[in-house]
Amino acid sequence: EDPRIEGIKSTIHIIRDFPKPGGDFLDVNTLLLNPKAFKDTIDLLVEQYKGKHISVVAGVEARGFIFGAPVALGIGAKFVALRKPNKLPGKVMRTEYSLEYGNDCLETQVGVIQAGELVVIVDDVLATGGTLCAAISLLERNGAQVVECACVFGVRQLKGRQRLNGLGKPSFVLVEI
Ligand code: PRP
Ligand code: MG
Repeated sequence: EDPRIEGIKSTIHIIRDFPKPGGDFLDVNTLLLNPKAFKDTIDLLVEQYKGKHISVVAGVEARGFIFGAPVALGIGAKFVALRKPNKLPGKVMRTEYSLEYGNDCLETQVGVIQAGELVVIVDDVLATGGTLCAAISLLERNGAQVVECACVFGVRQLKGRQRLNGLGKPSFVLVEI
């Protein structure tokens, strides 16, 4: 395993019973307080995708923006924001999905992605995989070819990676908890 992974792992705080009793919350804010761990995280993601003809990095609002935008810069790709509802002007496409607590949806502007473009989706945490499945479906409806989903943390027990594999989508997860 890459020696940088252990340092990244050590910055993460798991908050029990947040936001609801029984839930475990992975707090990435503590990773962001550690400039070396944050830089190592971005470097590892950039190393994974550099030179692979990825032309778009899509970040999932909100925490996927933090990691997705610097990865896009690092590999020289466009950054596309997948946004929570009613934030984007103009013609949008929407995908609804369910989370542990309630429903949500993601939107993207029509026309920002050309048919066949190679896309990597970036988010902070892969839990049940519901969010990333919705992101994949939204991007594919826009003609994108989703190559892989990348997350900083994955919660093994919630089987998000299996769910993505079921859609034929590989996932790159730096730290599995
Ligand atoms: C969290 C997290 C991931 C998603 C993972 O986002 O940032 O996007 O949940 O869960 P899943 O794999 O079960 O779908 P959340 O919707 O809480 O919002 P935020 O990123 O805007 O804080
Ligand atoms: Mg999120």
